[in-house]
Amino acid sequence: MYYPEELVEEIRVKNDIVDVISGYVRLTKKGSSYFGLCPFHNEKSPSFSVSRQKQMYYCFGCGAGGNVFTFLMEYENYSFLEALKVLAGRAGVQLPEREYSKEAKQRADTKAVLLEINKKAARYFYIQLKSKGGAHAYTYLTGRGLGEETIKAFGLGYSNKYSNDLYQYLKREGYKDELIAQAGLISVDERQGVYDKFWNRVMFPIMDVNSRVIGFGGRVMGDAKPKYLNSPETLVFDKSRNLYGLNRARTSRKPYFLLCEGYMDVISLHQAGFTNAVASLGTALTQGHASLIKRYVNEVYLTYDSDEAGTKAALRAVPILREAGITARVIRMEPYKDPDEFIKGLGADEFERRIEKAGNGFMFSLEVLEKGYDMNTPEGRTAFMREAARRLTEFEEEIERNNYIQAVAERYRVGYEELKGLTAKMAIETGQARPVSRPRQTKSRDREDGIKKSQKILLTWLASDEEVFRQVSKYISPEDFSEGLYREVAGLLYEQYERHELNPAAVMNHFTDDKEHREVAGLFHTRIRELTTVREQEKALSETVVRVKKHSIEEAAKKLEPSDMAGLQRLMEARRELERLGKLHISIN
Ligand code: UTP
Ligand code: MN
Repeated sequence: MYYPEELVEEIRVKNDIVDVISGYVRLTKKGSSYFGLCPFHNEKSPSFSVSRQKQMYYCFGCGAGGNVFTFLMEYENYSFLEALKVLAGRAGVQLPEREYSKEAKQRADTKAVLLEINKKAARYFYIQLKSKGGAHAYTYLTGRGLGEETIKAFGLGYSNKYSNDLYQYLKREGYKDELIAQAGLISVDERQGVYDKFWNRVMFPIMDVNSRVIGFGGRVMGDAKPKYLNSPETLVFDKSRNLYGLNRARTSRKPYFLLCEGYMDVISLHQAGFTNAVASLGTALTQGHASLIKRYVNEVYLTYDSDEAGTKAALRAVPILREAGITARVIRMEPYKDPDEFIKGLGADEFERRIEKAGNGFMFSLEVLEKGYDMNTPEGRTAFMREAARRLTEFEEEIERNNYIQAVAERYRVGYEELKGLTAKMAIETGQARPVSRPRQTKSRDREDGIKKSQKILLTWLASDEEVFRQVSKYISPEDFSEGLYREVAGLLYEQYERHELNPAAVMNHFTDDKEHREVAGLFHTRIRELTTVREQEKALSETVVRVKKHSIEEAAKKLEPSDMAGLQRLMEARRELERLGKLHISIN
């Protein structure tokens, strides 16, 4: 924890959630809550609710929810600390200087200076582009169809023909050689001295998600090599955790991203109205990119080049995205090479149509595969179907696999049952599936997930109703929650309950690690199956209590040392109590 919890709580209390969210969403009062259109998903009728009493928000449509910190973290993509700082400022609360270790402070300072240097360099390049000496660069960009507004929005620039112009400028601004070099903007050579890295190129500043310049790509205006020169990785520039255009795409409010290969593709697409386009930074897509994307959308349309390299890159990207839980579709650009040329050739409407027609990533990989087989002969088709079946075995989840089997069967006009049989056979043949042991494994994993879900639901229930808490707390204590995070949350809720101050919005303050905070925010909103009658709800709640208790006893039994007599006693007592719990009834009013 960086700041004392009381201070965090003070800041939370001084920022009324209805007031803060009203700055972003139009809210109307209905009963004791406020409602508006959810800013986290597209909708036409309001299902986003904010409670002044609880100081929490929740969307019945997409399940987003949390306290005032969570809201800013989700909406502005702030870290917990950034949200805290903004809200402290809003409430006029002074935050004490953080105590850094010397090393951490130095690192943070260096990072701040590198960002400053990058920002100054970007401005410098922009001014060069607008100056007389940059006229040919400006003409180059407009010649490629970019308008004034687009050039400004993306902060495009020009690095001029003098060998150390930028260096001289940054030195005059007071930056040390060492830091300018650390920013990747100059090269230091013993014989030739210091010279700029970028020379006579149009410049593409690369920004992070908060629009801070972290590096540059520079393009030659002719056919020289290399076509693009990029900043090296630095303290502030991590190519595998940033995407070009993300700072703009993240507010596009579309449920998917268009993922392309090049800077120019992103810019053209944005200019044509597709403001959800992003690109990786001259590298292949990584898992880091995929989890970054997953923070914003669950679906990606790949708009890679239509040449062989682009196709290969798309094929590599599909499983990386799937691994992160993102569905991939592939947009075909033929007869054009890339989105930039496509838009120029056929326009935005036609591109929109291609988006609609985009095929599923897996089916695309089969289309590519097809080209390696002679589909006009029985042998060719059989060999192809065997390989397709082998690939189908890679879907672990049965429902998903069957859906794909269905789709492939239809597409290649073979029987569903036959293809299913072939897939099962391939699974055994390739040793991928061990048909005997695998179902067992999944079952125990399902059970794990099941008990986690039960504990989550129980937390949601405890947090929402003091009377339920009173009844449940007779049987369940924080130690009965097996998941570390859940146990911590339960512990905090129990403390509050004992002080008669049940306040889940305050519990969230305790979790300042971004990932944990998000997870805890989700804990208080676990969707409980739409149970209509009170009787049904009571039954479900009672069953949940029993399930959590039972699991807790089983876990304790597993850990018990045979010589621990007192422990054995307690265990037997607990088991007896569990039996009595079988007739448990918890009432909800
Ligand atoms: P492309 O060669 O497809 O270029 O490279 P492009 O984006 O279509 O650019 P134009 O239209 O020719 O101007 C795709 C991406 O690969 C990286 C860059 O990020 C580029 O945007 N790349 C390419 C390099 O880093 N270096 C290179 O020499 C070439
Ligand atoms: Mn191009």
